[in-house]
Amino acid sequence: MTQPNTLPQVQPSTTAIHAGYTPSGDYRPLTVPLYSSAAYEFGSHAEAVEKFALRASGFTYSRTGNPTVSVFEQRAAALEGGANAVATATGQAAVALSLLALTQGPKHIIASSQLYGGTVDLLTDSFNDFGIRITFVDPDQPAAWEAAIEEDTRAFFLESVTNPLSTLPDLPALAEVAHRHNIPVVVDNTLATPANFKPLAYGADIVVHSATKALAGHGQVLGGVVVDSGTFDFSDEARWPQIARARERYAGTSLLARYAGGAYSMLVRSKFLHDLGPTLPAANAHSIITGIETLPVRTAAAQSTLLLLANFLEAHPLVKAVHHPSRTTHRHHERAAKFFPRGTGSVLAVELHDADLVPAFIDNLKIIALAANIGDTRTMIAHPATMTHCRLTPSQLAEAGLNAGVLRISVGLEDPADLIRDLDRALAAAEVSGDKSTVKDVVFA
Ligand SMILES: Cc1ncc(COP(=O)(O)O)c(C=O)c1O
Repeated sequence: MTQPNTLPQVQPSTTAIHAGYTPSGDYRPLTVPLYSSAAYEFGSHAEAVEKFALRASGFTYSRTGNPTVSVFEQRAAALEGGANAVATATGQAAVALSLLALTQGPKHIIASSQLYGGTVDLLTDSFNDFGIRITFVDPDQPAAWEAAIEEDTRAFFLESVTNPLSTLPDLPALAEVAHRHNIPVVVDNTLATPANFKPLAYGADIVVHSATKALAGHGQVLGGVVVDSGTFDFSDEARWPQIARARERYAGTSLLARYAGGAYSMLVRSKFLHDLGPTLPAANAHSIITGIETLPVRTAAAQSTLLLLANFLEAHPLVKAVHHPSRTTHRHHERAAKFFPRGTGSVLAVELHDADLVPAFIDNLKIIALAANIGDTRTMIAHPATMTHCRLTPSQLAEAGLNAGVLRISVGLEDPADLIRDLDRALAAAEVSGDKSTVKDVVFA
């Protein structure tokens, strides 16, 4: 059994290596062991009964908990400054479960109009099928979020750094609006990473991650996590019956009465993870834990390379704009300095003057890979309008600020000079070939 630890107040780089695990047992393994077991033996029938009834804590079956996965959960909670965390198979599952737990009924969500394309698919298509209604609002307009609140609104959802344009919503202002209406704020902190920004410290109640990205950092596995602050007030029984009302499923008590600040995460785990089953495999948790240990140094290195790439691209005649808050022209440059002094992560967007050059530019890159991922050690490029965000309607694309010339670059850990040479070569080749392509035919409003 792994032993959680209680660390003194430490910096993120120390938390990333130590939180959630203390060597113990006969062998005292220094690194987190991989517990590859679907089930756990009970010492007696009475013990099994107590654990299944959730009256005693402990592992029963790995769909809802595993010692290795638990270390990842504790480490993610510690990094974000949360009380509890629930790991999921993917970031997509983390977003889905975090919101399903709030919107049973079905209820209404107000979401940022600038989100990862897969999240937009989930909200507009699958959630819509379940009867959960979504209103998308510009994350820069807190008053518009307030105006969009309905009797049934049960969540605000936004990304702390948006994918791919790196806009920075005013989280404290949005949280102030939400909390006046007893609405929890769920923030996807994937791009920022907790090495740079902790949404719970700025008013968020719940944080979600695609651990597939910078947390893992190696691009080898998928994973997700829901981190709960444990401080949102779910006591209004009429508003939050799934948490505050006594239920047969929990032996006639309410989750709130049993778990207090742990009630929301217990709902995510014991109902949604248990019933729907998007469990993070222990081997993937193990791999993500190894990645997290280097998160702060990887993030700092990628961000310093990103600045060099941004400077190069901004000065290039084929480039219309670099969309990144490090640029003085970015509308959230000042907000970045205030809330993100360490950086906003390793993603930048570059917009070419001539969208027709996009395919030739991409195809002439030799080091930078065309791939739909971010946060890896290797640098990757994607064309959001035809890849990650390809199912958005023309008006959704326009609202998200995405046009045919925009490319997303996730900066990795290669030598910056090699990456700049790669970009330079590919831009030159694209200009020479003047490739006229199909990109412009695809979407645009
Ligand atoms: C910001 C953001 N959130 C969530 C997800 C979904 O994560 P996963 O691919 O791990 O399901 C992604 C994936 O790209 C993402 O970029």
